[in-house]
This record gives sequence, C-alpha cells and structure tokens, in this order.
Amino acid sequence: MENLYQNPEVCFFDSGIGGISLLYECVRRLPRVNFTYFADNYRVPYGSLPQEELIKAVDTKFQEIESRNPVATVVACNTATARCIDFLRGKYKFEIVGIQPAVKPAVEKGNCVVLATPATSESRAIKELVEKYGRGRTQVFACLDLAAYVENNVFALSNERVKAFLPKVKADAIVLGCTHYVFCRDIISDYYGCAVFDGIDGTAEHLCKILGNFDHREPRAQKIAFSGGDMAKNRQVFNTLMIKNGSISQNHIS
Ligand code: DGL
Repeated sequence: MENLYQNPEVCFFDSGIGGISLLYECVRRLPRVNFTYFADNYRVPYGSLPQEELIKAVDTKFQEIESRNPVATVVACNTATARCIDFLRGKYKFEIVGIQPAVKPAVEKGNCVVLATPATSESRAIKELVEKYGRGRTQVFACLDLAAYVENNVFALSNERVKAFLPKVKADAIVLGCTHYVFCRDIISDYYGCAVFDGIDGTAEHLCKILGNFDHREPRAQKIAFSGGDMAKNRQVFNTLMIKNGSISQNHIS
C-alpha cells in the first residue's frame, strides 16, 4: 500500500501548453497530489507529425516519466491519446489516463462539430468515438495550424487570426478536440454562437476516481513542477490560470 504520509506523484503530458488547463483543474481537485507537467513545446504541432515520429516523440517523454515512478500519468493531449494510447498502455505499467473529445454530452444539443488536429481527425479512435456516440449528427474537422498558433501566441490571441482557422459550418454544439483550443474557447464560442464542450471535467473526474485510495482530505504542501520544452512559459501559463481563477494572487507567484 502507498505511504499516505507522502503525496502521490502524478505526471502530465502534452506537446505544449494545451494540457495546462486540465492540469489546473486536477491541481484544484487534488490538493495532496504532486504534479509534474512534461512538454515538448519546441516540437508543436504534434498533430501534423507522421505516426512513427509521433510515437517516437511521445515514447521518449514516457521513458522520462517512467523514471519518476508516477502513480498515474495523464495524456493531456487528444492527438497523443487518439494515436498512441494503445501503444503506451501496452508498454508502461503505471495507470495512463487519456483525454477524449466530449461528443457524448455535446450531441444532446443537436448537430455536433468536433474541432481537432489533422492527426486526431484522421484517427481510428475518433472514428470509433463518433460512431459510438455521434448519433449520425456529428462531424469532425481538422483545424490545420491552430494548435501552433495558440502555442506561440497564448498571451495575445487575436480574434481574427483564430477565426480564420475555423471551418465555416453551422452547429448546435462545438467540441474542442484539442487541448490547445481550450485557450480560445471564448473566441470559438463567439464565432459559432453555440455551446462549447471539452474533455477537461470528464478527464479530471476519471483521475480523481483512480486516485480514490489516497487520503486527500488534509491539504499539505503540494509541488507543481514543469519538465521539458519551454518550462518558463508553461509555468507562466499555469500561474496565469491560477490568478485568473482566483486560486492565488499576483503576490504569491515566485
Ligand atoms: N494539444 C494537443 C491535442 O490535444 C496537440 C496539439 C499539437 O501539438 O498539435 O491534440
């Protein structure tokens, strides 16, 4: 049994900043867990990599993650989940949680459009998800280069630039099928004028269930670390979310 006097370690992985909004939600829900966020910012977009290169890039990060001996790892990247999760689960022994587009709740609203990277939109995983939950009224569109645009401009996103990446379609619900797109949720919502869904709550919920054996009641000093890629930017994005949501004030940022 795990030592309840030690915080368990959970790792996160995304190509770049995309998974940080999911990290924030998990940090908020699990105050006694230590988190390390692994990223590969200088290689974004993963969604345009050929399958072999993608697997290699993700596997390299997972070898580092394995050496941390985490209780679980969250693949906070729809592309890596859609294209690599079977490989990862076959190779690594720790618990691996993936993120999937939230088609199931979104389709309740009517015609549903999933926005995703090219690699996700061409994957078998998304086809199966749409067949299972899409009720014949769900379409998937690739937003070429939007993830890279968000990665490089997260602190100064232009409404016009973001809208130029979006498919001109009508929908009753939009599903954000790439974690980078969460950072332009308001722009996307304004463009389509309908409800926008993402996989953040569902994935955070799933992680909480997996960690259910730990005692999370007494908060103790929690460590949030960043590894790989542009660590300073990733921490800044995380701190910005903490300030925006009132979790800490500007004065607490070191
Ligand atoms: N954030 C990732 C996703 O959810 C990948 C973005 C990219 O690097 O293309 O798909």
